[in-house]
Amino acid sequence: MASSGFPCSSPAMFKALLFASLALTALAAPAKRQSISTLSTTQIGTYKPYTWYASAAYCSPSTTINWSCGSNCEANAGFEPVASGGDGTFIQYWYVGYDPSLKTVIVAHQGTDVSKIVPDLEDIDFTLEVLDATLFPGMSSSLEVHSGFAGTQAASALDVLTAVKTAMSKYDTSTVTVTGHSLGAAIALLDYVFLKAQLPSAAVSMIGYGLPRVGNQAFANYVDSIGGITHVNNQKDPVPIVPGMFLGFRHPSGEIHIQASGSWDACPGQDNDSDLCEVGDVPTIFESVESDHVGPYDGVTMGC
Ligand SMILES: *[C@@H]1O[C@H](CO)[C@@H](O)[C@H](O)[C@H]1NC(C)=O
Ligand SMILES: *[C@@H]1O[C@H](CO)[C@@H](O)[C@H](O)[C@H]1NC(C)=O
Repeated sequence: MASSGFPCSSPAMFKALLFASLALTALAAPAKRQSISTLSTTQIGTYKPYTWYASAAYCSPSTTINWSCGSNCEANAGFEPVASGGDGTFIQYWYVGYDPSLKTVIVAHQGTDVSKIVPDLEDIDFTLEVLDATLFPGMSSSLEVHSGFAGTQAASALDVLTAVKTAMSKYDTSTVTVTGHSLGAAIALLDYVFLKAQLPSAAVSMIGYGLPRVGNQAFANYVDSIGGITHVNNQKDPVPIVPGMFLGFRHPSGEIHIQASGSWDACPGQDNDSDLCEVGDVPTIFESVESDHVGPYDGVTMGC
């Protein structure tokens, strides 16, 4: 799969970060188990088309442009592609099109390997930076995001915007759903904020899988204030706990956590520390299971 394009981490810094993370865990409040709601089978099923769309973003643009990407495409057979792009190295693959049964424009972004993204996001050399004023007009300068994610989202942003406008006009709809897994979920979250800012009349939503932390507390609060997102985390996936909260990163609300039993639990608030939710279930990278990153998400394993 594609490189995420972040610089490598130094082993000494990596260790220092892990110890800092352990120390913080020791201070954390005891895990809670109250009022987390479990989704019904029907509710879980409503996510399935978006899960396949996130997985299809790992397929090359030459196969998403004519929807010939195999099982990921066949799962949403009625999809009408509008544009595809990316090179899988410097620009993650992406595609835009329309789902006639869900009646929404779909925007999807390719993710990356867990073995690549975790060390990248543990890297102390990250910077939090303000959102680009051209792509994100009128945002407060208190909103900061990971510089690697900002650069990756910016690489496809204008092509995606053009394709979304084309699809909205062609299919006469104002509904847009952005999705992705891993790094693709991080790009999707930034696209969500970007498309809402660029297309004020559109109804934009975002469903992500294995989402890393993208921005600071002010950014998470802003996402919550403009409607919020859904991010689905599978069992002991390490990616949703990086970069660490001790570095100033915070998830927006909207977590759904998949248990080993296969049940999906909706976790209220930002970074809920209940042991039924990601932060409580996976307090440090040592308790994580890398192979949980790809899924399965209700039977769907991410990848092309
Ligand atoms: C889709 O495009 C690819 C690459 O151009 C081509 O090889 C393939 O035959 C096309 N498939 C369909 C179903 O049109
Ligand atoms: C986690 O969820 C519980 C149960 O609904 C809630 O009482 C608690 O406030 C939440 N914690 C956070 C940090 O949002």
